[in-house]
Amino acid sequence: MSQHKYLVTGGAGYVGSVVAAHLLEAGHEVTVLDDLSTGFREGVPAGATFIEGRVQDAARWLDASYDGVLHFAAFSQVGESVADPEKYWTNNVGGTMALLAAMRDAGVAKLVFSSTAATYGEPLSTPITEAAPTAPTSPYGASKLAVDHMISGESTAHGLAAVSLRYFNVAGAYGAHGERHDPESHLIPLVLQVARGRRASIAVYGDDYPTPDGTCVRDYIHVADLAEAHLLALDAAEPGQHLICNLGNGNGFSVREVVETVRKVTGHPVPETPAPRRAGDPAVLVASAQTAREKLGWNPSRADLAGIVADAWAFARREEQEA
Ligand SMILES: NC(=O)c1ccc[n+]([C@@H]2O[C@H](COP(=O)([O-])OP(=O)(O)OC[C@H]3O[C@@H](n4cnc5c(N)ncnc54)[C@H](O)[C@@H]3O)[C@@H](O)[C@H]2O)c1
Repeated sequence: MSQHKYLVTGGAGYVGSVVAAHLLEAGHEVTVLDDLSTGFREGVPAGATFIEGRVQDAARWLDASYDGVLHFAAFSQVGESVADPEKYWTNNVGGTMALLAAMRDAGVAKLVFSSTAATYGEPLSTPITEAAPTAPTSPYGASKLAVDHMISGESTAHGLAAVSLRYFNVAGAYGAHGERHDPESHLIPLVLQVARGRRASIAVYGDDYPTPDGTCVRDYIHVADLAEAHLLALDAAEPGQHLICNLGNGNGFSVREVVETVRKVTGHPVPETPAPRRAGDPAVLVASAQTAREKLGWNPSRADLAGIVADAWAFARREEQEA
């Protein structure tokens, strides 16, 4: 018997599909709303009701039978957002405005939103807490920050119970649900493409950063740990409050450590190509997840990089076999 009924926007995408699978496993009823702009129909977990449609039209489907919304649907390519900012304002901000209006009209008063570390921009200090200044360096990060502000206003004015989860680098896979962005910009799937022979080498952008091995350090969080935080956030959300929590492991791994781990896990050589630093790439981006631990009771259990890479590799090989 189902416990609650949730709308999952963007549930045909990477993170949304893993969270939808976790909700179903916990006995909830799930409807996925996704326009398949970057997601895949086969990514929607079995057992979920699927609506192919846009968040902008959420009012057509949302009604008082829903207990809450988990909102993943967005565009999320940083580089594309610099080249085509209006695409990001229209979809990420415009889409969420329409969703919030539909929730208000339907009387659905609980929201968990996928925010991002990109709302902070270049950190003044690490690990990054929620009190850090927000100064996004891309329209993508700015669009997500704008949505966070919209949600705060909605909570204050209309009593919405809301949690924004600011993810750092999501990685790994959960069975049949894994990462396949096109174009791919995330390090682990890119390095795995080299291991699979799909890409000749991995570019290492800068090896003279003030880090132990000179390459950039990032915080990788397993997508299943992230999914668990969403279920906890649904329980923790309080009417009239907007809680913001960073989600990361709190320990960073360098680009070179990721490449080396991929070599070990896959047994394949991974050639590197040295490249100049990229503008706007901070040396270290690591989260403080203290708030998530305290307020959500979150306790990530898959922080080990080799395990994260092994799960992503299993998904990549599975995809290859199915192709
Ligand atoms: N993957 C990460 O490392 C990461 C890090 C920080 C934040 N996030 C955020 O998490 C969320 C999910 O990211 P992801 O990596 O799973 O991306 P994804 O592209 O795999 O998933 C996004 C999904 O939303 C759908 N979508 C987009 N616009 C839509 C619209 N207007 N109406 C209906 N569906 C729409 C897409 O078809 C896709 O299935 C995004 O909001 C992203 O900004 C992701």
